[in-house]
Amino acid sequence: MSIISKDISKAVAILNQDELVAIPTETVYGLAGNIYSEKAIKLIFETKQRPLFNPLIVHISSADYLKNIVAHVPEKAKLLADAFWPGPITLVLKKKAIIPDLITAGKDTVAVRMPNHPLTLELLNQLDFPLAAPSANPFNRISPTKPEHVEQYFKNQLKIVLDGGACKSGIESTIIGFENDEPIVYRLGSTSLEAIEQVVGEIEVKNRKEEAPNAPGMLARHYAPKTKTILSNNLEETILKNKGQRIGVLAFKNMASSNDIAFQIVLSKTGNFAEAASKLYDALHKLDDQNLDLIIAEKLPNKNLGKSINDRLQRATK
Ligand code: TXA
Ligand code: MG
Repeated sequence: MSIISKDISKAVAILNQDELVAIPTETVYGLAGNIYSEKAIKLIFETKQRPLFNPLIVHISSADYLKNIVAHVPEKAKLLADAFWPGPITLVLKKKAIIPDLITAGKDTVAVRMPNHPLTLELLNQLDFPLAAPSANPFNRISPTKPEHVEQYFKNQLKIVLDGGACKSGIESTIIGFENDEPIVYRLGSTSLEAIEQVVGEIEVKNRKEEAPNAPGMLARHYAPKTKTILSNNLEETILKNKGQRIGVLAFKNMASSNDIAFQIVLSKTGNFAEAASKLYDALHKLDDQNLDLIIAEKLPNKNLGKSINDRLQRATK
């Protein structure tokens, strides 16, 4: 029997028993548990096979709740929350003692966001606690953007995937930390740098730190298909070089024409970045299911959400 369901009251009951529920958000599906339950938080790390040094994001139902869990909100954090919440931006702020160390991997900061999905906001409203939720994929695998992706990964370990349909934004939230109260981008994501800079001015990006990174989840290889994947600036040329293999292509807007392609997906025929982002992970899941020898992904123009998509593609191709 399918574990995909729209039954919020069932999800509430499971979460109140310190167990896990997969929740829809506008970015990707999350594997959620009560932030105040040690049992639930341990279960998140176990189920995902996630290393304990990689901290979790706390999901809250209103910016007002911040005062319960964080010690300090810099002025520019307020501006960002006002501008983008509910929405795909995560703020890393000094934590209060009430936030368990397990969630923050011992750091003195906690990552928080208010997700923009009606079902999950309704769920949060029916709970007495926020939800810790990493993306609902096993460690190092492709993030889930449809309930079926989560079911495929965890059907034996989860009681319910709350069915919120396909995620609208499709890549993870943008993570912003603060150093001396100034915002710094720790992870590129669904809110573009351009949009963020309109609110807080020019912003530094530390997305790519691999050693002792600020966002420890930002390992070089992440979000990866099982199939070997390479990134290309010129599809036709790369296809030609790899002739003879069973090739899958992930194109941005123009279909590559070659008889050597076994399977091809175009992310946005009109070249729309938001559409491409929303389809990215589903396309990688589909390509990974085709028994290909090689996936060739086309690099996008490096601006706006194209930058965030290129970041994910790079991590998928390491
Ligand atoms: O869109 C999203 O953010 C999704 C949905 C479910 O909300 N969640 C998500 O969670 O992508 P996850 O666990 O896959 O990625 C969380 C990232 C990791 O890279 C982690 O290292 C970083 O957030 N992070 C969490 N707490 C942090 C902290 N205190 N300081 C720095 N980075 C932190
Ligand atoms: Mg993740």
